[in-house]
Parts: sequence; structure tokens; C-alpha cells
Amino acid sequence: MDYQNILVTREEDIAIITFNRPKVLNALNRATMAELSAAIDELASDENVRCIILTGAGEKAFVAGADIRELQAIESAAEGAAFAAQGQSILFKIENLSKPVLAAINGYALGGGCELAMACDIRIAADTAKLGQPEINLGIIPGYGGTQRLPRLVGKGYAKWLILSGDMISAQEALRIGLVEMVVPAEELMAKARELAHRIARKAPLAVACAKTSINVGSETDLGTGCAYEASQFGLVCATEDRVEGTTAFLEKRPAQFKGK
Ligand code: COA
Repeated sequence: MDYQNILVTREEDIAIITFNRPKVLNALNRATMAELSAAIDELASDENVRCIILTGAGEKAFVAGADIRELQAIESAAEGAAFAAQGQSILFKIENLSKPVLAAINGYALGGGCELAMACDIRIAADTAKLGQPEINLGIIPGYGGTQRLPRLVGKGYAKWLILSGDMISAQEALRIGLVEMVVPAEELMAKARELAHRIARKAPLAVACAKTSINVGSETDLGTGCAYEASQFGLVCATEDRVEGTTAFLEKRPAQFKGK
């Protein structure tokens, strides 16, 4: 597919989606969200792609939020609710994708940009990045899942601080509260993200998918139900050729050759 607002590149077993509207700090308009959705579908069905990185073009921004021009043009409660629901469905698609998605946060991750990063599996931030949910300054609230995923990631108190004040925080502060998992020098960001993505991409893909869904399902339910789900997923991976290969390779003291079967 021919994309106007994002770049999609494949590098061996990984793919990189780059938000490419640097003049507006990669703000997410409807067209960009539609392209993101199409790109995720495209990469979901590409067997050669085992891990995906999301990042932003330019040095300033990952994504500086939903496009404020489009927010200004919303005319009714129904239109606003549909706008939010549409964005949320695309973020769910990322969260529920069987392949891991890493956010390489190269600058501002604000509003929808922070929400997008939170729908990813792992967040790596440049030491120059800034994160926040500044919607309150526009007279609105987060609409792409921010009021839900932020407290789940960092706890209610930090979520209320960020969402009620609109304060922007540094990458280091984001690391401290658990909003990102890693902070690296800006110039090393993509190398680190690629290195981690390739490392995950070389694991058994069905085991990676089952681990991701077990964590996602389990973190939204009680411990007993989560463990029961884990046991069913453990059963699934036990039925794979990759389980035989992984355990045999260990015992034969050689690297495993996983096939995704
Ligand atoms: N939607 C639409 N346009 C945006 C945008 C957004 N979310 N964020 C930035 N832009 C545009 C600006 O309007 C500006 O366009 P212009 O050159 O035509 O004036 C351009 O991107 C550069 O932004 P600018 O504000 O000049 O850069 P800055 O370095 O002074 O400030 C920010 C950077 C991120 C602090 C500031 O752009 C900002 O606060 N953006 C909005 C963040 C936000 O509220 N996001 C949540 C939306 S729900």
C-alpha cells in the first residue's frame, strides 16, 4: 500500500513504522490513523515480520498528539465519542496483535502519542523525550485510552497527576514512574530499539505471541483466571515443533532454529 503519512520499512525479521508528518510534530490526523491501521494489518499477515517498532520522523517528536485542527472541528458529543472509539479500536489492534510492538520514543509523546506508546508492549525513550497527557489544557480529556492505560501502567496517583495537570515529564521521570521501560541517549535510540526487536524476533514466535496475550489477559482479570489462561497457553506452546526444537537444542548445547510451528 502507498502511504502518505507514515513510512513502513522492513529490515530482515522486523518492521519499522515511522510517523512522518514532522511539520506538525507527527500529530495523528484521521488519515494517519487509517494508514496506521492498514499498516498493522499488512504487517500482521507478513510471516517474515516478527516484531514491529513505532517511531517518529525528525528529531523533535514521536507523536505530539491527535491533530488539534481535527479536534477543533468536532461538532457534537456523538462525533467526539466516535472519534475516540475509532482511535481506541486501532490502539486495541496494536495491543492485541500477536507480534510485539515496541515504541521508540524519539521526542514528544503527548496526548494520543503517549496513548499510542502505552498501547505498545515495551517503551524505549530517548533521553531527550518528553511525555504527557496535555488534553486538559485544551478543555478535553484523553480519548485514546489514556485515562485507562496510564493508571494501569503507573498507578492511579501518577495518572491523576499527569492527566489533571497536563504536566509534561522528562524521559527520566517517565522511567521512574514506570511509563517507559528504558531510557537511552538519543543518538542510540534506534540502534537499541532495533537490537531488542531483532532479539525478540529470533525467539519462537508462537511462544512470544502466547506470552504477550497471557500477560495482557492476565493483567485484566483476577490471578486465578489469569493463571488458568496461562496454563491453556502453556498447553498450546507445548504442542509446537518449536518447543521440541528449543528444549532439544538446549540439551544438545546448540542454538535453537525456531520455525514458528
Ligand atoms: N496537532 C496539530 N498540530 C500540532 C500539534 C498537534 N497535536 N502539535 C504541534 N503541532 C504543530 C504546531 O501547530 C506547529 O504548526 P505551525 O508551524 O503551523 O505553527 C508545529 O506543529 C510545530 O509546533 P510548535 O508548537 O511550534 O513547536 P514547539 O517546539 O514550540 O512546541 C509542543 C512543541 C509539543 C510543546 C507544542 O507543539 C504543543 O504543545 N503541541 C500540542 C500538544 C498537545 O496538546 N497534544 C495533545 C493533543 S490531544
